[in-house]
Amino acid sequence: MKTSAAKTFLDDVINGLSLAQKQLSPKYFYDEFGAEIFERICTTPEYYPTRTETMILKNNVAEIARRIGPNATLIEYGSGALEKVKIILEALENPNALVPLDISKEQLMVAAKKIRTEFPHLNVLPISGDFTKPVELPKKLLNAERKVAFFPGSTIGNFEKEGAINFLKSVRATVGENGLMLIGVDLQKNRDTILKAYNDEAGVTSEFNKNILIRINRELNGNFNLNEFEHAVTYNEEHHRVEMHLMSLAVQTVRISGINFHFDLHETIHTENCYKYTHQSFSRLVEAAGFLSADSWTDSEGLFTVVLLTNKFRQKF
Ligand code: TRP
Repeated sequence: MKTSAAKTFLDDVINGLSLAQKQLSPKYFYDEFGAEIFERICTTPEYYPTRTETMILKNNVAEIARRIGPNATLIEYGSGALEKVKIILEALENPNALVPLDISKEQLMVAAKKIRTEFPHLNVLPISGDFTKPVELPKKLLNAERKVAFFPGSTIGNFEKEGAINFLKSVRATVGENGLMLIGVDLQKNRDTILKAYNDEAGVTSEFNKNILIRINRELNGNFNLNEFEHAVTYNEEHHRVEMHLMSLAVQTVRISGINFHFDLHETIHTENCYKYTHQSFSRLVEAAGFLSADSWTDSEGLFTVVLLTNKFRQKF
């Protein structure tokens, strides 16, 4: 018997690979192995977002902490290794709780355990699951005085515009009228720098992209031949997005749970988009979701920005 999660995974894969442009949802990258490979991407020399964002947070943490204020409850969306939120927690006055949300349960539990030992007075309440679905906060947090959503890593760039707006709206509802959102955004820049970040010399990003095929083989009884697919990255200038694909190197048929999928030579599976914003285009996006960019911090090269959002409809006294 398949668990319902495995059934959804299979349904999503069948539907995605039946489209004219084959696609797979990036959330399936993050099994235990994918989460690990992703941590390695973050340390490659070409992947500038992680180190730039970390530096921005470190350089401005006093001001960020002052804007957030005391007794805050932080909710981190896609919390991964929980490295960045520590920078903020250390600077906050009497933080109340941390709710890390992540789809990779194994990584979440390990990271939560670790952060509990580092912040023994902090309430750490991990929730594992798909953070794009509305989140139910633990009851005791519903009336917390200052809820702050933390969404680093430019993961917002992995949504389509409409999906991004819907996601931001649901975050706005979760943090409430007095709530804040602190969000990391990768900025538009020359295409070479961007392309290299998604196609590192050592091949870690390629390994990450292909891991989704390994996962299908293992969990859904597939027979993808990894040597017959190649990591392929393009920058779409019109839409300001990096596209990650897996390209078939042969005419071939792949069998998944007894179903055949045909691939032409050089046909691709589209696995992820990473949209790049300007300060202006990002402000427009958040306003469409009922937020306002209240403040932002950017590195001196203008590679990446961290933006503090407030509720646009907040009552002023
Ligand atoms: N969301 C981040 C980005 O778009 C991180 C990320 C997601 C990523 N998937 C990735 C980075 C694949 C490299 C490769 O940059």
